[in-house]
Amino acid sequence: MKALIVLSIVFVVNVYGADQRIDPLVLINQGLVRGQKATDGDYSTFLGIPYAKVDLDDPFGPARAAPSFEEEIFYANEGTVQCPLTPFSGYARAAGISPVESVDCLQLNIFVPSQASIRNPLPMHGNEFFDKDFFYSWIQNTFVMENEEVYTAAKIVRHFYVGDKDISSDVNTEAEYFNSDIVFNHPIQDTITRLINENASHVYEYVFSYVGDTGLSGAAHSAELPFLFDLYGDFGELMTHSSTEDDLLMVDRLTTLWTNFIKYGNPTPETSELIPVTWSPVTANSRPYLIINKELRMETEERFLKERMAFWDLFYSIYGQYNIFA
Ligand SMILES: *[C@@H]1O[C@H](CO)[C@@H](O)[C@H](O)[C@H]1NC(C)=O
Repeated sequence: MKALIVLSIVFVVNVYGADQRIDPLVLINQGLVRGQKATDGDYSTFLGIPYAKVDLDDPFGPARAAPSFEEEIFYANEGTVQCPLTPFSGYARAAGISPVESVDCLQLNIFVPSQASIRNPLPMHGNEFFDKDFFYSWIQNTFVMENEEVYTAAKIVRHFYVGDKDISSDVNTEAEYFNSDIVFNHPIQDTITRLINENASHVYEYVFSYVGDTGLSGAAHSAELPFLFDLYGDFGELMTHSSTEDDLLMVDRLTTLWTNFIKYGNPTPETSELIPVTWSPVTANSRPYLIINKELRMETEERFLKERMAFWDLFYSIYGQYNIFA
């Protein structure tokens, strides 16, 4: 953290030519660090600055002091190292980012707006996720295509999600949509399509949106599980912290719907005070889904995320043949 603060103070030593790219050189407690001026925006990056050193003989013990760069300038241009086995690394891989996992991961990636100076302090941030065009990385890692085609496909996807905006934390929400769509939303829709094409019946679609009084802005993937099973730790947080009357109603509803489906192949063989709606199955031509929130409601006209799902249906109809899993 000290590195961050010092960095902002001495950033003023940079001199920028009009059009020339001059990489910033800054002095921090450890010594001189050379960053990189971005070519796709008005900022500089300082990637992979070690802020402490892991004791490899005792990785979970106290960290050692960060190395100093007294002998030579530290070139901060490699920021892909991540600590192993973080939940994020799975998502990063799914989003097409291939992090280098290492125990020796006490490094910072710092992004600094170019207009920042000692008189004009601007927020900077460190964020692994945005240090690349993750649309491009995902296409490149998921489809076997010529470079030019990878670029074209990535552009199409990027324009669909963020328009002409640069990739920065300003597009966090769009990045989450993209990530959710490629990891969960579209694969689920595609699975339904495949089931229906195989003439499967008893296919029931739902969207679980209940957050109770957690204050969360939305229900995450697998958020329904604590209402179906006794779960502990991170998963069970909602249930173990507090079970409001609404939470317990949700437990009754979910366990009834799920066990009905197991017993009868139909989650709502009859309506009741507990479950006052009839959950209709997906058919070849319609895709109704149950919205599971404080109230239960059937959506029968609009398909779930219909524009985004239609985009991916079209995208895969063109590029699906090049998918590494195809
Ligand atoms: C699904 O049903 C249709 C119409 O009965 C039939 O032509 C088709 O072969 C079936 N598909 C499979 C995979 O069983």
